[in-house]
Amino acid sequence: MFEEGQLYSAVTTEDDGTVRVHLADNHPGLHDDAYLRRRGEIAATALAYRAGEPLPTIDYTDAEHDIWRTVCAELAPKHERHAHPEFLAGKVALGLPTDHVPQLAEVTERLLPLTGWSYTAAPGLVPLRDFYGDLGRRTFNSTQYLRHGSQPLYTPEPDILHEVVGHGNQLASPRFAAVTEAAGAASLRLETDEALKFVADVFWFSMEFGVMSDGDDLKAYGAGILSSYGELDEFGGMEIRPLDLVDMGTLNYDITAYQPVLFRADSVAHLEDVVGQFFATVDDDLAARLRAQAGASV
Ligand code: TRP
Ligand code: FE
Repeated sequence: MFEEGQLYSAVTTEDDGTVRVHLADNHPGLHDDAYLRRRGEIAATALAYRAGEPLPTIDYTDAEHDIWRTVCAELAPKHERHAHPEFLAGKVALGLPTDHVPQLAEVTERLLPLTGWSYTAAPGLVPLRDFYGDLGRRTFNSTQYLRHGSQPLYTPEPDILHEVVGHGNQLASPRFAAVTEAAGAASLRLETDEALKFVADVFWFSMEFGVMSDGDDLKAYGAGILSSYGELDEFGGMEIRPLDLVDMGTLNYDITAYQPVLFRADSVAHLEDVVGQFFATVDDDLAARLRAQAGASV
């Protein structure tokens, strides 16, 4: 997933139709011309795609399948140890391939019968309104490229491993899928950009980077932690705060680094009661009031 106005890569189209990808300064592929060309090719496929057509397929290279295999193999034991059981149940139900990069059509085929969600192809940054609007229609905008092979343990921008292994497995849980859909449905009600950003930030500290108690253990359920085997080793040592909508909706964060502050739900029911209920009821006024509370307490 991409959010707007951050240090992301950008996609541009030249006068001659060539699609170019510009990576952020801290991206490990910044000076790798072959990687940049490949990113351009894959972005061009998504740009040419029109909703309603069959999803575009990518002819992945052996090197790309290798990155998929490496990351899935590294993630497997770390998920067993650190992922919340609700996520693990979704992962078993979805049964994604670990030996090759799946096409987005295959992800949809597996997910649709479980929770009614579909994947669609995005070239890169999707404006916040479009991304969340689609979530409200149970459609997930997904990139199709792989992270740079020199740094498989963590990438500073979402790639297909994040979208599919992180979000796909999460969306295979009916309960996580419902919270995600509620965030999307909320966006369709909100008129102000401030209110939408508040909802996106609560989403960030829950479905993207949320942690949850499991008995005495602290587990991860956020897709951004669960797609990064580097971050899976580190999240337990971060500052852990209780769920707090004002705090979550207003705290600043850097999307290209390990998250130093995480919010803990006591259980899936606690997440549903606080975050799910918030998404289900938020309007522009409520978001403005919560933002004002943060201003008042500083
Ligand atoms: N670090 C994540 C991974 O390695 C990818 C990622 C970077 C990301 N920035 C993000 C995911 C922001 C979600 C949101 O898989
Ligand atoms: Fe994401």
